[in-house]
Amino acid sequence: MYKLVIKGGVPLSGTINIAGSKNAALPILFASILADGPLKLNNTPHLSDVSTTLRLLMDMGAEFILESDNSLFINSAKLTKLTAEYNLVKTMRASILTLGPMLAKYGEAKVSLPGGCAIGTRPVNLHLKALEDLGASIEVKGGYIYAKAKQLIGANVHFEQVSVTATENILMAATLAQGTTTIHNAAQEPEIVDLANCLINMGANISGAGTAVINIKGVKTLSGITHSVCPDRIEAGTYLIAAAITGGKITLKHTRYQSMRAIIDKLIEAGAEIECDKSSITLDMKGQRPKAVNIRTSAYPNFPTDMQAQFCALNIIADGQASITETIFENRFMHIPELSRMGADLTLEGNTVIAKGVKSLTGANLMATDLRASASLVLAGLAAQGTTTIERVYHLDRGYETIEEKLKLLGANIERIQD
Ligand code: UD1
Repeated sequence: MYKLVIKGGVPLSGTINIAGSKNAALPILFASILADGPLKLNNTPHLSDVSTTLRLLMDMGAEFILESDNSLFINSAKLTKLTAEYNLVKTMRASILTLGPMLAKYGEAKVSLPGGCAIGTRPVNLHLKALEDLGASIEVKGGYIYAKAKQLIGANVHFEQVSVTATENILMAATLAQGTTTIHNAAQEPEIVDLANCLINMGANISGAGTAVINIKGVKTLSGITHSVCPDRIEAGTYLIAAAITGGKITLKHTRYQSMRAIIDKLIEAGAEIECDKSSITLDMKGQRPKAVNIRTSAYPNFPTDMQAQFCALNIIADGQASITETIFENRFMHIPELSRMGADLTLEGNTVIAKGVKSLTGANLMATDLRASASLVLAGLAAQGTTTIERVYHLDRGYETIEEKLKLLGANIERIQD
């Protein structure tokens, strides 16, 4: 097992490249099931969630080649097994995205129920109900979803709640359905737009992705193509906070600021100077302590749940008091007891955490619990006096490509060591 050892207190400075988005790459990899030929994906991030996805697809009969320039050839055109097994699905909830594509292309699918995870129960009822709306018959037994439909039929799908993954599953399934599907109350995340662009490139007929209503006219077949995965806005946001929390100045390349407005607005409110151009973002904190900012998570274009833990790390050493309210997941505050061990003044009231900023944090031994919570511990470690040790780094490796290498490039004193 690896751990990260951080000696904090260094203002970050320099320039790094942002990787392709995890939350775009995974659905697009699953979309390869729909194609009749191979996909070439450029800008695929090196993450353990990508490896898990490839293992799952391989187990079902897909083949892939990973090139040294971050491009990946994936051929899932002829699956030999229409089952997503529990032992692979349990480690990554995005595996539920095998369901829509398999059902649409092969008329049947058996997918393990993903179960809950550290941040909440995470049900899949919206996915199942929407696939039934498209004519699928679905049975859940022995921990598996069994879905069948000789031919999916286009329909009106009304999501009672905005769900990113359910929108993606139905978007993919509807591309090969007969007739037109309209998804109402669709999620509008940039990663959904990236998936839709990839599907359109493959030959799908989709309009409205990025809005609350998506129309999909089913086509008979989809083909293999080349696609570049969009930049990871959560990785970018995390590094911007790393600079803000240490009073530093950094530039991020290969980013798209347009998809990060809610995050950038909060950083400006915290006192950062930010300059953006077409593909880069520069944040300058001018050595100042950040100001505390109030946050309420919500679906895109509002503030992302995937950034609340990192802003919590900023608030604990900021000037003032502020609250963060989590509205997407019921248990996404696992970082709080760990941050408190560094001297943070945090109070949890229901789904709101109130931080009274302290002038300095002290390094401590910490335990990573889930992906974004782990990122908040790294950020706090960068700002703290003394040494912070973070165990269970594998959570970070799910979503941050070579995090310690990128932070080192920015001048941080951080090492990955083996126990
Ligand atoms: C969510 C986030 C996404 C983030 C990801 C990983 C939102 C809207 N989604 O996506 O930005 O990248 O977590 O942290 O912010 N739900 C149901 N039934 C379902 C599906 C979902 O009740 O069938 C509920 C969930 O419990 C949750 C909400 O709907 O409260 C949103 O879930 P969903 O968007 O599906 O979660 P993810 O796709 O994992």
